[in-house]
Amino acid sequence: MENHPLNEKAVSALTDRALAAFDAARSFAELKAARLKHLGDKSELALLNKAIGTIPGALRKEVGQRVGAARAKVHLALAAREKEITSAELGQRLAREKVDVTLPVGLAPVGEPHPITALIDELGDVFIAMGWEIAEGPELEAEWMNFDALNLGPNHPARATSDTLFVDPVENHLVLRTHTSPVQIRTMLSHPLPIYVVCPGTTYRADEFDATHVPAFHQLEGLVVDKGITMGHLKGSLDHLAKVMFGGVRTRIRPSYFPFTEPSAEIDLECFVCRGASVGDPNAPCRTCNSEGWIEWGGCGVVNPRVLAACGIDTDSYSGFAFGMGVERTLMFRNGAADMRDMVEGDIRFSRALIGGAR
Ligand code: PHE
Repeated sequence: MENHPLNEKAVSALTDRALAAFDAARSFAELKAARLKHLGDKSELALLNKAIGTIPGALRKEVGQRVGAARAKVHLALAAREKEITSAELGQRLAREKVDVTLPVGLAPVGEPHPITALIDELGDVFIAMGWEIAEGPELEAEWMNFDALNLGPNHPARATSDTLFVDPVENHLVLRTHTSPVQIRTMLSHPLPIYVVCPGTTYRADEFDATHVPAFHQLEGLVVDKGITMGHLKGSLDHLAKVMFGGVRTRIRPSYFPFTEPSAEIDLECFVCRGASVGDPNAPCRTCNSEGWIEWGGCGVVNPRVLAACGIDTDSYSGFAFGMGVERTLMFRNGAADMRDMVEGDIRFSRALIGGAR
């Protein structure tokens, strides 16, 4: 047996060579080559294995066990080396692909919708969720639509040139609309009944430019015309809007006058700063509401039947309500913007702070 090619020394030399070759392999490709050479069909170990059959009886068992043990050892070594190479290659790949998070990124500012635009979208969504539609009208408006059709007679003070921006030549009777209410008329003339619309848009008045007035501002108009509509529906709709926009803030309506609604009302919001605590307390005055506890939000009322009739609507069967409120004011209440001028100056830091703050 000492000199037989399958003696113990010869088999362990074969085994050692295979193990050394696996150890030396640095990649899957190298390991594969070593595997074919030392474990493949034509490897010495495989040939030895085949040769076992030719060995005479007594020796065969001993040699068979030796070769079997050697092959098992080589297979185990191969599997272990495979694992090592896998984790080494993964480590290398991770090191190669590492991301340097301290590198400077592109600093080009990302755009933001203007807070007024964003708020108009949000206001519209409140009504769309209730099944209303959005209506629109032109900013350059016929004087008749802006005033006469809304029951604002020729001598109404709002028509005076001090408020209204007339467009040259005056004989054309075109104005920059002073409110969104002409869209009520346009809608009643073109939309089948019933009507449930809101109209957001830009409006113009020859106003001072100060913290609470800008000459070009925005309103949200609402108009409903249906059978059996009452002031209760108006109050309910406005309360819902206030709740969505301001959470727990209370609203109140108080009598007022508009030629196109009868009865008419102003809608007020509970002061968002003092919540009414400043009323009658001289030691804690509130500058936001002048210690009145309420802030005016907009106008509203039951649509004057004269307006419905002027649009050809049967006032025996139909009634309606309308409201109009300032979008800038709504933004001031909601996001704590103190100065309306910031809203038109186009400084992105204002938009960012306001929109970011609201999110
Ligand atoms: N158009 C009115 C304004 O600008 C507001 C308003 C709208 C009032 C609808 C009543 C009904 O002040």
